[in-house]
Amino acid sequence: MRIDILTTFVEMFAGPFDESIIKRARESGVVDLRVHNLRDWTHDRHHKTDDEQYGGGDGMVMLAAPLIEAVEDLQRQAATVTHIILTTPQGRIYNQSVAEELSRKSHLILICGHYKGVDQRVIEYLKPDEISIGDYILTGGELASMVIVDSVVRLLPGAVNSMGSVEEDSFTSGLLDCPRYTRPREWRGMKVPEVLLSGNHAEIGKWRFNQAVERTRERRPELYRLYESTFPLRKEGKGAR
Ligand code: ADE
Repeated sequence: MRIDILTTFVEMFAGPFDESIIKRARESGVVDLRVHNLRDWTHDRHHKTDDEQYGGGDGMVMLAAPLIEAVEDLQRQAATVTHIILTTPQGRIYNQSVAEELSRKSHLILICGHYKGVDQRVIEYLKPDEISIGDYILTGGELASMVIVDSVVRLLPGAVNSMGSVEEDSFTSGLLDCPRYTRPREWRGMKVPEVLLSGNHAEIGKWRFNQAVERTRERRPELYRLYESTFPLRKEGKGAR
């Protein structure tokens, strides 16, 4: 997959994209990830990417021309079907199923929205997939883009060592994850549940599944209802790992 990001804050991406799974995915060619400075597509000597809004009011609006020209250039370079994303609080709410949908695209271009947003003509012209990562306001779309890219790249074949681990993720199954334990067996009087030490994989699977169901029911009733309506025939203890 190729991913291009358009931003005026290129340096913000250095940490998250140069560590751990994303770093390895880039090095092994699972993803061709490039961060571009939008100022490279400006024509004035101040490299302006935004301006005051018509009608008055606080906050700057991102100019249409640099954004549209940048996207057109990147589309030409990649020569494949592109999916354009604009990060904005006005977008559809992001979740795991949107991440899965995006992971099946061959080329993503992410526009990091800023200030009071982008000139509406960018939206009319490019018809981007407007995405919000939640009902709160960030200082800019950069963090939202990082969240999207991180969650999409880990779904790409070859990004995570064990695909089983990805398939077991909460939200993929429709349930929250069960509790997990590692060494030692006992710490400050707190013991690892006996069943996990039993070696009985069927029982372990049942226990994990029941814990996941119980957690989801308690913590996220709306997710649980959705799960129940999606898998009406699923019995506790079945389908567990
Ligand atoms: N820009 C500012 N806040 C945002 C949000 N919640 N999601 C996506 N982009 C944003």
